[in-house]
Amino acid sequence: METRAIVIKNYGHADQLEESKVELPELGEHQVLVKVHATSVNPIDWKLREGYLAQMMPWEFPITLGWDVAGEIAAIGSEVKNWQVGQKVFSRPETTRFGTYADYTIVDDHLLARKPENVSFEEAAAVPLAGLTAYQGLFAHGQLKAGEKVLIHAGAGGVGIYAIQLAKNAGATVITTASEKNHALLKELGADQVIDYHTTNFSEVLENVDLVFDTMGGEVQAKSFKILNEHGRLISIVSQPDEELANTVAVAESIWLQPNGEQLQEIADLMADGKVKSVVGHTYPLTAAGVTEAHELSATHHAKGKIVLTNE
Ligand SMILES: NC(=O)c1ccc[n+]([C@@H]2O[C@H](COP(=O)([O-])OP(=O)(O)OC[C@H]3O[C@@H](n4cnc5c(N)ncnc54)[C@H](OP(=O)(O)O)[C@@H]3O)[C@@H](O)[C@H]2O)c1
Repeated sequence: METRAIVIKNYGHADQLEESKVELPELGEHQVLVKVHATSVNPIDWKLREGYLAQMMPWEFPITLGWDVAGEIAAIGSEVKNWQVGQKVFSRPETTRFGTYADYTIVDDHLLARKPENVSFEEAAAVPLAGLTAYQGLFAHGQLKAGEKVLIHAGAGGVGIYAIQLAKNAGATVITTASEKNHALLKELGADQVIDYHTTNFSEVLENVDLVFDTMGGEVQAKSFKILNEHGRLISIVSQPDEELANTVAVAESIWLQPNGEQLQEIADLMADGKVKSVVGHTYPLTAAGVTEAHELSATHHAKGKIVLTNE
């Protein structure tokens, strides 16, 4: 079927974004068609648009960007057993060139989670990519346990907001970095200590940290090694740690999010119980102009929480 979508037909700046009609692939046996009510912007969207990921994802054009969706199931494949038309769902779909900046998108059934009633489509669309990255970084890779001390860099960002809440909920002591204007919000979300990275060098005031969740890379990552204890782990979602520094701690690795419906359902259940929430700092309409503004804001690295695109 054909859907309206915001696509790129070449790599380049935000002016490459345009509205177009896209023919979706045929629905697979284990896939569902989702009517998109909201999607969200992640830095991967504009990094891919610029062409930085062209080697990793050598797709043909047009490319529909966006890999978060919240919406309603509009059709199901012949072998889909646990989902019905009309159900409200959200997901981080597989990374294909048929993304979620569209009126309709296709999702593998095992990647779906039920949208909690108390969570809006906008709040749900903010979660999957960022929330799963936080979950996998902290627990699957970071092995964070109750009573441990974790430093989460960029707590006010898309990933950081979920990481703070998930770590706190798991019983960890949570330290994070952010501009002063965001400190009250991050404390309300569960941060025990917030460091203003503009005025304080975290590596001079912290020690004996069990886990660093690195969302920044570069100098911030390099400085993080010295605050880790002998069981210390550094999990980066941005860049491969330097080999020499990596040898000074128990674990140092760079990870790439794996879409996962079961883990997303765990986050959904925490949201239903009011233990995790989205911070939607900015919303734009799902139009070429709306996506352009949203990408420009995301690329400043200073968005607050998540940027959501609405399609009502
Ligand atoms: N490997 C993966 O699978 C994966 C998955 C998701 C994301 N990522 C990557 O992870 C990075 C973060 O993603 P995101 O969605 O969280 O980004 P984001 O939402 O754009 O992050 C913006 C936040 O970063 C904060 N910030 C900027 N410079 C900072 C600094 N020096 N110290 C502390 N905080 C700082 C800003 O806080 P203030 O405004 O308070 O300054 C802002 O709130 C991106 O590079 C993204 O591509 C990787």
